[in-house]
Order: sequence, then structure tokens, then C-alpha cells
Amino acid sequence: MRIGILTSGGDCPGLNAVIRGAVVKGIAIHGHEFVGFRDGWRGVVQADVVPLGRKEIQGIAKQGGTILGTSRTNPFEGENGGAAAITANLDRLGIDAIIAIGGEGTLAAARRLTDAGLKIVGVPKTVDNDLSATDYTFGFDTAVQIATDAMDRLRTTGESHSRCMVAEVMGRHVGWIALHSGMAAGAHAILIPEQKTSMAQIADWVRSAHDRGRAPLVVVAEGFVPDQEDDPHSERGLDAFGRPRLGGIGERLAPLIEGMTGIETRATTLGHIQRGGTPTSYDRVLSTRLGMAAIDSVVEGRWGRMVALRGTDIVHVSFADAIGELKTVPQERYDEAAILFG
Ligand code: F6P
Repeated sequence: MRIGILTSGGDCPGLNAVIRGAVVKGIAIHGHEFVGFRDGWRGVVQADVVPLGRKEIQGIAKQGGTILGTSRTNPFEGENGGAAAITANLDRLGIDAIIAIGGEGTLAAARRLTDAGLKIVGVPKTVDNDLSATDYTFGFDTAVQIATDAMDRLRTTGESHSRCMVAEVMGRHVGWIALHSGMAAGAHAILIPEQKTSMAQIADWVRSAHDRGRAPLVVVAEGFVPDQEDDPHSERGLDAFGRPRLGGIGERLAPLIEGMTGIETRATTLGHIQRGGTPTSYDRVLSTRLGMAAIDSVVEGRWGRMVALRGTDIVHVSFADAIGELKTVPQERYDEAAILFG
């Protein structure tokens, strides 16, 4: 078979390891041939492909980003978009099947194309870890490690000045990165979108840590919804899918905390640093296994399904199940972490 691979949506550490896992197994075990679509669905609708053989994937498992490039192109938009035009492109290029590596938007588009008869299998990707059909997504562990390292650094400077440090992390509408990095770094408060938390409560936790001689660390997820408000803080307009671009809540909270506690407070937004650089070994192994499992799905013709992690096993689930609902932080996980606050 001749298989096309694409990476779509925001980049994520581990994308290259998925590509390598799929190509190595596909060539070694099945004698398949591969091409890469450049920049996600854009490469599919514009028939923009690059060769993907053993040479092209050498040494890429440890590289961040994606060697194929990515974009947030919607394959149904534009004059070359839509299932019929894409099918014609694939026929012309002699491509039998697609492995689409992406998040919710990518998998939703893949589902529509599969319903229209295209042969697509999916590999889930997001640093946010918000897909309900998989226990963990690759990229999440790396983002948590980067955030934890940054918080360890914030704590030493905070302690030197007896300041409160606010660290804002990514995660869109879920608090997984905040919960895990905050627990790992010993945060005195973790603020996540799933939990309404009053300013009075935040100030209490900060004061309590400060009274014990600690420099309080407050971790806030970008999607945290301030008490008395209905939506997360957004000051940067909309993204290509019309979703609000988040970020900036940490800078907004810092003066409020300082005003209520009298403790000098500084905010740091970690931003895209959380998505850059080399994947952790955990993410490399997970990505490689998912890439190899995607080849099994292609060989067995499991179109319209994505590979996923359940416990330590790789399983496969339908696109419909994968994009059904966000995987949010359950109450018991937050309650467990909150015992450590203050
Ligand atoms: O979904 C991954 C993510 O990094 C979110 O955590 C964040 O809100 C968003 O993407 C940022 O998107 P962009 O890279 O388009 O600014």
C-alpha cells in the first residue's frame, strides 16, 4: 500500500516519533510505501506531498515539532476542499490510505471524510490531554515536565524575594497540565477551569503559605474562569476555528492577589515553551507505539477509528467516541490535590 501521513492542528512533542513508528513498522513488516502531506490538511487538498522513507525519518523521534509541518486548514473549505476533490487527489497520487495525527478538529474532519468513503485512521494528539477516549495523549507528559521545571525555577526566585509567584499554563478548557505540574512543583493553589474558586479563597491559601515562611506558588490554567464570570479570560481574539484564544489570566490575578494579601506578586505565562523542544522518554515511547498501532489499523482496514491508550494497552476507538466529549479533571482528582493547598 501507499500511505499518506499528516500532522494537523497545534504541534506537540512526539509527532515525529509517531511518524517514525508508523514508517518503520510499515516498511519493515508490510513493505508499505509512505508519503507525507505538508502542513496537515493543506497538503491533502493541494496535493502537496514529500517522500517519507527510512532516510527521511532517521533520528527524528527525539525532535520536537513535526518534520511535515502543520496548519489548522479545514479540508472542507476552499475550491480544492471536500471529499470528492480530495479523493481525486489521492487517486492521482496513488495514495490508498491516510494516517491523520491530530486533535479534536483533525479527527472531526477525518470522520466526515471517512463517512464520505475515504480510508483514514487517526492518532490522537494534544498537550491538553482533553480527549476522553484515551487515558493520556502524547505531548502532555512533556508539557507537564517543562512546566514543572519552570515552576521549580520560579520558586527559587520567589523564595529569594519572599514573593508570591503566579504561573500560568496551557490546557485550553481543561486543567490537566495545571493539576499535574502544580502537584509536582508543590503549588500552594491550583486554579483550573473545572473549579470555580473565589479570590478570598485564593488569598487565604497565599497568606497561609506565606505565614509559614514559604514563597506562595499559584498555578493557574489559561482556561480558569474567575469567580462571578461565565467565560475564561480571553484578550487575543479568535483562532481559525472561531474559538477564543486564551491566555493572560495570570497577569490579571497577580495584582488582585497582591492587593488582597499585601504580598508582592509576580506572574509568568509559560505559553508555547510548553509545546516546544524534545519529547520526554514517556512521550517518545507512547508516540512510537501509537504510530506502530496505526499501521496495524491500516492493515486491518479499521477506517474511521483512532488508536488510543487504555491503561498500558493500545486499543482502537471510533472517531465518534473520540470527539464526543472533553476529558475534564474529575472532582476527586481536584479534591485530592486541594488537600495540599495553602
Ligand atoms: O491545544 C493546544 C494548545 O497549546 C492550547 O493549550 C492552547 O490554548 C492553544 O493550543 C494555543 O494555540 P496556538 O498555538 O494556535 O496559539
